[in-house]
Amino acid sequence: MALVNEHFLKLPGSYLFSEIAKRVNTYKQANPEQKVISLGIGDVTQPLAPVVIEAMHKAVDEMASESTMRGYAPETGYSFLINAILENDFKMRGVDLDADEIFISNGAKSDTGNIGDILGVKNIVAVTNPVYPVYLDTNAMAGRSGIFEKGLWQDIVYLPCSPDNDFVPAIPSEKVDIIYLCFPNNPTGTTLTKKELKKWVDYALDTKTLLLFDAAYEAFITEDDVPHSIYEIEGAKKVAIEFRSFSKTAGFTGLRCGYTVVPKELMGEDAAGKPIPLNQLWRRRQTTKFNGTAYIVQRAAEAIYSKEGQKQIKDTINYYMENARIIKENLEQIGLKVYGGINAPYIWVKTPNNMLSWEYFDKLLNEKQIVTTPGVGFGKSGEGFIRLTAFGKKTDTLEAMKRIRM
Ligand code: MLT
Repeated sequence: MALVNEHFLKLPGSYLFSEIAKRVNTYKQANPEQKVISLGIGDVTQPLAPVVIEAMHKAVDEMASESTMRGYAPETGYSFLINAILENDFKMRGVDLDADEIFISNGAKSDTGNIGDILGVKNIVAVTNPVYPVYLDTNAMAGRSGIFEKGLWQDIVYLPCSPDNDFVPAIPSEKVDIIYLCFPNNPTGTTLTKKELKKWVDYALDTKTLLLFDAAYEAFITEDDVPHSIYEIEGAKKVAIEFRSFSKTAGFTGLRCGYTVVPKELMGEDAAGKPIPLNQLWRRRQTTKFNGTAYIVQRAAEAIYSKEGQKQIKDTINYYMENARIIKENLEQIGLKVYGGINAPYIWVKTPNNMLSWEYFDKLLNEKQIVTTPGVGFGKSGEGFIRLTAFGKKTDTLEAMKRIRM
């Protein structure tokens, strides 16, 4: 019999959102008459922008003719999309990148999970706590995390984020090799200012630490001093990989498209200390294991960069941020402690009466028919919190708030 990868056996339970879906389905089966409102997983509810639909129809028609049909897409993306990204996401913010530093993919979840393929298993990894579970689970699968005990991975360095430090993680006091940073943050909805992020870049430059910067929620930033890209900070190209996603920016959770930036000046090293460009390794990894994002989807992504496209996606983002405002205000009015929701579509809520996260999750599901995400699912420091998403329909969000207030 084939031996299994035993690191998988160390993983606790199922993936967070699978566990929630299981509990919700059990509840729905037992209570089919109840209307359950989901403010749990951050999945979008609004239709795709008209420019996106139009671009896809056109691309589908191209597939119907011998002269315009497309086969395999280039593994790292079509230049029409890469050029639109370079121009709009970076040049307009004063960041110059080359086309071969952008890798189009089927989303940031896979890229943040797969990036470990090009990194040694002996690296010491640090994550914020709470944290998006993909970073932890994929490092555990690769054998970088040790044993899971009392809610913590033995070999992972945790950087707690709580109201005590305004959700700004402290620079690690011990030597680490890789740090995952996600800002605006999932799950807390909080973020770092330019000045705060600069501290991380300077530290990484000083200590030769690799930063894995997840910017999936940058489109939701409303405040001026919050960076949209880590490359807005001088020197970051030497220390950081950045992950971007069209899932939340343009409602592509079902279409699947994102990209990863691996600057050419960013180096790792081999066991002998020889510098190795991570760009080359990621290219080698992607061209071997990935066959490109669908042409139709890349045309859809390109469409959001037109003037009209930018306006349409901004309207949808504003719709979701209005939900964030509604949630925040309503919960504050009933005396709950609420964080986030200003530069991100997530609201991080302290449970009333110090209830445990799953306890409050069950209470809201059973008594109010509202699905949330238990904070402890994002790590030990998330205990005693729940996360609400602003990606619901406005009517559902209003109804959920009415139910919570009753
Ligand atoms: C979340 O709810 O945290 C996200 O939707 C999950 C994801 O983006 O994979």
